[in-house]
Amino acid sequence: MPVISLKNVTHTYGEGTPLSVSAIENINLDIESGELVGIIGHTGSGKSTLIQHLNGLLKPTSGTVEVDGENIWADKKKIRSVRFKVGLCFQYPEYQLFEETVYKDIAFGPKNMGLNEKQIDESVRRAAKYVGLKPELLTKSPFDLSGGEKRRAAIAGVMAMNPKILILDEPTAGLDPKGRQEILNMIKSYKEQTGSTVLLVSHSMEDIAGIASKILVMNKSRVAMYDTVENVFSRASELEKMGLNVPQITRIFIGLKEKGINLDTDVYTVAEGGKRLLSLLKGGMA
Ligand SMILES: Nc1ncnc2c1ncn2[C@@H]1O[C@H](COP(=O)(O)OP(=O)(O)O)[C@@H](O)[C@H]1O
Ligand SMILES: [Mg+2]
Repeated sequence: MPVISLKNVTHTYGEGTPLSVSAIENINLDIESGELVGIIGHTGSGKSTLIQHLNGLLKPTSGTVEVDGENIWADKKKIRSVRFKVGLCFQYPEYQLFEETVYKDIAFGPKNMGLNEKQIDESVRRAAKYVGLKPELLTKSPFDLSGGEKRRAAIAGVMAMNPKILILDEPTAGLDPKGRQEILNMIKSYKEQTGSTVLLVSHSMEDIAGIASKILVMNKSRVAMYDTVENVFSRASELEKMGLNVPQITRIFIGLKEKGINLDTDVYTVAEGGKRLLSLLKGGMA
């Protein structure tokens, strides 16, 4: 059974007004437990609207959202528990840090869940560890942290609720390449350690190629593709028509092949590209 299942989900902002916008249209989607799904698409394609449906922050204009086989809107009183099960980390989450200390900020969610002091403490420390925040930072004001540390503290606040499904909206936005890589590594190891399902919205093909097990491509309010990384990136020309690109390294390999060099183009990360080129060179010299 899929952990998330959307059936004919449409969301229209400002329905019935002259300004109404159909942000997502007729979405049908099943996400299996344990996947790490990278969500890509042009600005305005509906990515943020889509993910806000998964924890009941937005309600479909029509259609149903199921988590663990249950329609999340079947009983309004249960929506709170859905928000704990499906942890959503917004874009630029550091703007939502507001407590006196980092500790209190990370503890906010677990406290809301009604955990006791000891459980809250365990959750905070475990989450800080997941994101690589040193224990001594926990007593600091969030405003004394660096940009990257603030981002990690905010993500830890969602991880601290121990969600079965973790969703992050552009978690690497605005970070330098090193900061981006740190966040991506951390998300990957969180997933491996907890076995949770992770959905990650990103602008960067490179980011997604390195960690995702599946890619969801949004285009003009609809799901254009939902498939393995290989299958999605093999449709380079279709992606291009949507204003999207396969990773740079993949483009280089496609370019080399077009120039007549005999190689496979299923290369999505620079590390893998390097390996392939090296073995090609060695092969050539032998
Ligand atoms: N709160 C809102 N009110 C009205 N329109 C919105 C709102 N949020 C997003 N939209 C519109 O819905 C569409 C999809 O937006 P969004 O889900 O934010 O896409 P993405 O995250 O892919 O950039 C866009 O046309 C956007 O302008
Ligand atoms: Mg968005």
